[in-house]
Amino acid sequence: MLLLVHLTNMLLGLNSLLYHSTVVPKDNMSQIHLKRSGTTKALEYFDSFYGSYFGAKWEKIREGLLSEPKYCAVINNFGDSVENCAQLELEGCINISDELINVDENEDRNKDSTEVIEKKGIFAVDTEPRYQAINDDDKEEMDMNFGRVIVPSKGQDFSILMDYLPATKIKGGENSAEPLDEMKYFQSCYDYEVKVVKGKPISFPAMLNVYTREKGNDEELPEPRHGVLNTSGYYCMDGASILPVLALGINPGQSVLDMCSAPGGKMYVMLQTMHPSLIIANDASKARERRIRNVLKSFVGNLEESLSTKVITSTIKAEHWTELDAFDKVLADVPCQTDRHSVIENDNNIFKPSRSRERITLPETQSGILTSSVRACKPGGTIVYSTCTLSPLQNDGVVHMTLKGLEEEHGIVCEVE
Ligand SMILES: *[C@@H]1O[C@H](CO)[C@@H](O)[C@H](O)[C@H]1NC(C)=O
Ligand SMILES: *[C@@H]1O[C@H](CO)[C@@H](O)[C@H](O)[C@H]1NC(C)=O
Ligand SMILES: *[C@@H]1O[C@H](CO)[C@@H](O)[C@H](O)[C@H]1NC(C)=O
Repeated sequence: MLLLVHLTNMLLGLNSLLYHSTVVPKDNMSQIHLKRSGTTKALEYFDSFYGSYFGAKWEKIREGLLSEPKYCAVINNFGDSVENCAQLELEGCINISDELINVDENEDRNKDSTEVIEKKGIFAVDTEPRYQAINDDDKEEMDMNFGRVIVPSKGQDFSILMDYLPATKIKGGENSAEPLDEMKYFQSCYDYEVKVVKGKPISFPAMLNVYTREKGNDEELPEPRHGVLNTSGYYCMDGASILPVLALGINPGQSVLDMCSAPGGKMYVMLQTMHPSLIIANDASKARERRIRNVLKSFVGNLEESLSTKVITSTIKAEHWTELDAFDKVLADVPCQTDRHSVIENDNNIFKPSRSRERITLPETQSGILTSSVRACKPGGTIVYSTCTLSPLQNDGVVHMTLKGLEEEHGIVCEVE
């Protein structure tokens, strides 16, 4: 089995935090107050902890974190797609696929697409660099940090993880310091070795058409129109939301399980590749399942019956998933501390005080979801684990711990790309 852990995590994280500052309470004064306490404390914490973790790369990441999200229009093939592409081009938007393919032709084909995307600057921070270029030594150190998966030594002991969960510190706001403890914790524990392999380059599905504004242009995308089929012309989403789907590399005729599917954006991208024969869009919450159904209603409408992709929604808790070795591809886009949808949506919001315990136990939940996702995947299939946080604990930490558990308890061995 192959497991991809993608740096898209990072891009997702960059966009998500912004929602802390755009939560809009009724009263203006409390809005100002909220902004201060939420973002300032978070940023202090991030400067301290992520700063030491990401090293030379942090300053750029930080700037991304504080910039507006970059939206992309993912064209709906079940609408007037030709007209909608033309309209966006008239508006001056760029065809992302075109950009990537041109890059591929001119540059080393073995480079991974994330790198290419970063290089083209489509999703990159807009302002010119205020920092010195990274020298080669720093770059080496950076590559090392990103290539390494780190794990605690004491088996599946989640209590250790919880002590280090950044969210608790942000919430309390008190000792935003001591991130170095966290670093020590990560660096001192290696006992389960994860096999890391070089991944294949990511290809861009021919039917997927994605447009965005050029670098430096934050202007909103025009409102999508409803066409003759009364379906919406395109879905505007974070560029970063597209990447986990690209990383899955769905081939024509394959079956996909989207384990935490709501609100349905990534399911939508899968559908627009026109590749899957089956998508199970699962989300444990009924309310969130309705959002997936709404996406289908707006973008597919009456065509659903005639699609070559069968889409089934379900509301099974990932940990209770029973269909094993069943899917070619599985996406585990897990809930995490900066899940933007939870932050803007009061319904089922993980930041509610009544759910703080649940929030504290996120790494455990994430690991449970990933375990189920791997077990649901056919041998030789691909699982993508993605989050909307930069926390190494919720990314590499959870992956490493989960892989260890999978091998020890289920005899399943995974490779990480
Ligand atoms: C609060 O915000 C609203 C809308 O942004 C504005 O119309 C109103 O004047 C503001 N009230 C105060 C007291 O600033
Ligand atoms: C976008 O670019 C790709 C790659 O060049 C091309 O295949 C595709 O047709 C373009 N999309 C449109 C709508 O022109
Ligand atoms: C078109 O779609 C919109 C929103 O999805 C819906 O409110 C409206 O009733 C639909 N119109 C027709 C003619 O089906």
